[in-house]
Amino acid sequence: MTLRVKADVWLARPWQCLRGTRALGTTAALAPNTPQPFEAIPQYSRNRWLKMIQILREQGRENLHLEMHQAFQELGPIFRYSIGRTQIVSVMLPEDAEKVFQADSTQPCRMTLEPWVAHREHRGLRCGVFLLNGPEWRFNRLRLNPNMLSPKAVQKFVPMVDMAARDFLEALKKKMRMNAHGSFSIDFHSSVFNYTIEASHFVLLGERLGLLGHDLNSGSLKFIHALHSIFKTTTQLMFLPSGLTRWTSNRVWKENFESWDFIAEHVMKCVKNVYQESAKGRPQSWSVISELVAEDALPMAAILANCLELIAGSVDTTAVPLVMTLFELARNPDVQQAIRQESLAAETSIAANPQRAMTDLPLLQAALKESLRLYPVAMSLERILSSDLVLHNYYVPAGVLKSFKVETKEQSDVPMAYRFVLVPSPSPLLTFRPAS
Ligand code: HEM
Repeated sequence: MTLRVKADVWLARPWQCLRGTRALGTTAALAPNTPQPFEAIPQYSRNRWLKMIQILREQGRENLHLEMHQAFQELGPIFRYSIGRTQIVSVMLPEDAEKVFQADSTQPCRMTLEPWVAHREHRGLRCGVFLLNGPEWRFNRLRLNPNMLSPKAVQKFVPMVDMAARDFLEALKKKMRMNAHGSFSIDFHSSVFNYTIEASHFVLLGERLGLLGHDLNSGSLKFIHALHSIFKTTTQLMFLPSGLTRWTSNRVWKENFESWDFIAEHVMKCVKNVYQESAKGRPQSWSVISELVAEDALPMAAILANCLELIAGSVDTTAVPLVMTLFELARNPDVQQAIRQESLAAETSIAANPQRAMTDLPLLQAALKESLRLYPVAMSLERILSSDLVLHNYYVPAGVLKSFKVETKEQSDVPMAYRFVLVPSPSPLLTFRPAS
């Protein structure tokens, strides 16, 4: 029997600082001292039908992270629940997450993200590393790593990200100059979303989309819209069985498929272009796909599949931490000032060698890490275990910006909503002003 084990890692705020076997504020009993069977794990139960109606009515589960937090408070650091016939165990403490990862094989197994897999199956497309499990995942992953994660690859793409970042800053400065007050306030999330798409598109596909200027062409606007729509519709579909949503949410499925189709067509054009140029023996500028094609690392269908997922995986995950870092700096002006001093001191060395940004800005790096700790992007990490595990004495069987000053009037915390990643809702209004 296959059981899923879902390891929810809550690393967030001080009030979520939970150590030992008992969660802070939990009303749950202490974990047992003697080994207990799986069935003894505290069970989280809710009325399945009411839940489904709620998900349909609210078109998603924006408060899923709060619901999980409450379940941990009530039941302690380990609990189980079921979705259909599948049993899921949630754990929250770092030491439990460590045990789950230690039990992980070289081919970790995750749950299926049904709406995305359904699109690939219906369109005869392959899946990439985000959707794959088992040997196929490992095969793809080992071929992607040298061009995505190795220090050599990072060295290649840092200047490309730097180029997009400089254009983004230029666009912000221009906006500031055009404003009579010399400052302006914006919903930074949508601007930064455009920047992360631009940077990721450039690194992955080797082409600029032109999302950072004023006049976006209709193709670029469609690209942004399609990505937004994928995230929105995914959370409307992923929590309910497709047999049900096919009846209740036909329009949502249509929108999801059309958005993926648009992105897939666009990426396919870029990939084919690289193949054609390479066949003509023309020199290619560096990009993830040009390297994959040049090395014949993966078949064309697999390059397309992985690119789709890398694009989808790279935009909100990077945009939200940037927004939240700026928000925290805006309400902690002393830290903002210290980071500005650090970047001014490192300016010359980074201008000469953008790689130095990775080593010469330790305070900025710490601020980004702290934002990721305070506002974790992913709500949970999940694993289907390949071997038995004992957690808390319960037996779990196998199978389960430098020239700006940023200000905000908001001093209170920003609530987060689960929209495939955790996003600020509402997005904090940030004011950009020239730094003296
Ligand atoms: C701060 C930024 C990011 C955060 C917090 C983040 C978070 C995550 C998490 C939690 C996972 C699941 C890992 C697991 O199951 O063990 C993941 C997987 C993944 N992410 Fe990210 N991510 C970020 C940036 C990116 C970027 C920039 C890209 C693409 C360029 C990307 C592409 C992917 C892909 C393809 C996977 C699946 C990997 C695999 O299963 O082999 N992510 N990410």
